[in-house]
Amino acid sequence: MSTRFGFIGFGKMAEALWSAYHAQHQTTMSFYDPNSERATTIAQKYNATAHSTIESLVAASDSILLCIKPQTLPELLPQLKACSWDDKTLVSILAGIPMSRFETLSAKIAIARVMPNTPLQVGEGFSGICFQNTTPQQEAVVMHLFAAGGSTLTIPESTINAITGISGSGPAFFYQLTQKIIEIGKHHGLSESDTRACVAQTLIGAGKMMLTQDIPLETLISQVTSPGGTTAAGLAEMQRLGVDHDFGNVILKAISRAEELAQPTP
Ligand SMILES: NC(=O)c1ccc[n+]([C@@H]2O[C@H](COP(=O)([O-])OP(=O)(O)OC[C@H]3O[C@@H](n4cnc5c(N)ncnc54)[C@H](OP(=O)(O)O)[C@@H]3O)[C@@H](O)[C@H]2O)c1
Repeated sequence: MSTRFGFIGFGKMAEALWSAYHAQHQTTMSFYDPNSERATTIAQKYNATAHSTIESLVAASDSILLCIKPQTLPELLPQLKACSWDDKTLVSILAGIPMSRFETLSAKIAIARVMPNTPLQVGEGFSGICFQNTTPQQEAVVMHLFAAGGSTLTIPESTINAITGISGSGPAFFYQLTQKIIEIGKHHGLSESDTRACVAQTLIGAGKMMLTQDIPLETLISQVTSPGGTTAAGLAEMQRLGVDHDFGNVILKAISRAEELAQPTP
């Protein structure tokens, strides 16, 4: 599957994605990033071509990955408009930005909108992907790229803000909870690294159970819970404190922030 990848903005997510893909396919890529120090490092690290303008990057690429912050988009749109988008795929990973925002670049521009997450860099990412005006071949290229970093799921665009709140932001929510668990582990004589390993393996194990066993969540919970036991005590406290309700609100807040980002800045 030969395609020329070009990145606009090469920050954390671009590197997470490219390091996963590059480890499996020793292909090269081009990029544009105004941070000259970082551009030099990236060019050397991945044997990549740094472009000095967006126009030359787009001209030299087939699949163009937009990996800037959503807030940077308005200042970049005029430069994107100056490019020719015939036979190109624009791949946006910008949280909240709908594909319709790019329709002004070119009539019938081929777009993929993707919501990945940082575990891409260890091959355990999750990417929700939607397409507009793309050919099956263009879609296959995008799916293949993100599959290098983990699971992919084709979704309608109407659900991507939910994916953003759940899996895009999700790792940070679990890391935040882990910080609290580490405090508890330390208080009970465990080292930070032992508690970290204990939490991580528990998350991986619970995740694998959910992915590989077609068992309802109620059954998975009851498998851990014996009457009057430790889990029952913890679950009762979760219920008393309304932890699932509150954690639900954390996800809802992230989803509503993605919806806010969808609104054009005045
Ligand atoms: N981080 C996540 O977990 C995650 C998950 C899913 C989706 N996303 C999405 O991924 C996108 C990138 O996030 P990130 O975390 O990778 O951000 P990041 O690390 O800040 O990367 C953005 C890159 O774009 C560069 N940049 C700034 N202005 C630019 C311009 N005018 N033209 C070209 N490049 C420019 C930045 O350079 P400077 O550093 O010099 O500003 C930086 O290298 C965001 O839209 C976010 O919504 C992120």
